[in-house]
Amino acid sequence: MAEPPLPDVLLALDAEYADILGMLDRSAAVSRMVATVPALAGVNMAWVGEPDGADRIVLGKSVNTPNGLVEGLVVPVGVGLGGKVLAARRPVWVSDYLTSPDITHHFRSLASIEGMHAMIAVPIVHDGRLLGVLYGANFCETEFGDRTARALEQVAARTAAAEVVAERARHAAEVAVHEERRRVALELHDTVGAMLFTLGAGLRRLGEEPGLDRAVRDRLCAIEQQAMEATAALRGSLRVLSAPPEQVALGVALREHSTAFQERTGTPARMITLTELPALPGARIAALADAAREALLNVEKHAAAQSVVVTVFAVRGGVAVSVCDDGRGLGSDRLSGLGLPATMERLARVGGTLSIGPNDDAGVTLQAWVPA
Ligand SMILES: Nc1ncnc2c1ncn2[C@@H]1O[C@H](COP(=O)(O)OP(=O)(O)O)[C@@H](O)[C@H]1O
Ligand SMILES: [Mg+2]
Repeated sequence: MAEPPLPDVLLALDAEYADILGMLDRSAAVSRMVATVPALAGVNMAWVGEPDGADRIVLGKSVNTPNGLVEGLVVPVGVGLGGKVLAARRPVWVSDYLTSPDITHHFRSLASIEGMHAMIAVPIVHDGRLLGVLYGANFCETEFGDRTARALEQVAARTAAAEVVAERARHAAEVAVHEERRRVALELHDTVGAMLFTLGAGLRRLGEEPGLDRAVRDRLCAIEQQAMEATAALRGSLRVLSAPPEQVALGVALREHSTAFQERTGTPARMITLTELPALPGARIAALADAAREALLNVEKHAAAQSVVVTVFAVRGGVAVSVCDDGRGLGSDRLSGLGLPATMERLARVGGTLSIGPNDDAGVTLQAWVPA
């Protein structure tokens, strides 16, 4: 027998529940918002640009674009329509992207292949902070008016709200983890640490008793030494456990880039820390994190990979980050882009190196290294 239909109130609750869950996952929230653009703003296609560093966005989450060519495209400030929105922080539109004299034309051939003519973009802003750029486009020339801009801005406002909620939820979870680690560290310090101290002090007093057999005194001395070593080991562990966020900055940055990559592309990216890492100055952490970011962008643009693994480990008196994909490999083309030379230069400035080559999965492995 067929199941009886759910009462309307349950259906409504179900939809609301899905909405709330979607709100807690930033990427899912943004995708849902972009998907509403064609219907709400009356345009054929839509996509979003998400910040990647301070001066550029990466495009993605496209709906209805014939070939999805905007996916993974990097748009610097000032370039194209989105770059103009980034700089001006207000809606910008053109009736025909392919012929408009007001827009730089870095992406014209791509727009032409996708059959994009009219294009509109609005900033996604929260509290004066730019969270992204929302785009709409039509297959034909169109004179967009304030109405379309307002509709798109409304979706942008909702997207901003959803992003902020999701970000807060994630941040709260991260802070909670850190606080819990600190709490455990303090508790261990107060219990195990105090017990070891008492033990050591007792052993010392005992060892100082007059008239002790030499062998017994030596034995007591050895045990006291062990207690001191245990105290030192405990201190080290407590330092790691309660490490302030700066000391985990590289791990946090790499995890963020991996997660952003996975969210943008849907391709799984794992981050693995293979060894304990020495402390690094901020400039070297930034150079390594930037190298990983460029490598992941290259995987997104060039590799067509099924999966990516980012590993970080101490080696040769420094720290290496390797980004390993199982994509189509480097091919026979000479490496002629701009991204890798810029990354290499940045690493060289802090005494580091970059290497790139084939791996066992027929894909590409990039490895960046900096001295500790
Ligand atoms: N993971 C990868 N898989 C396949 N090819 C890659 C990969 N990374 C880089 N490449 C190749 O190396 C070239 C140079 O990369 P890059 O200097 O970052 O320039 P860009 O990304 O702007 O093309 C790319 O154009 C591409 O052909
Ligand atoms: Mg590149």
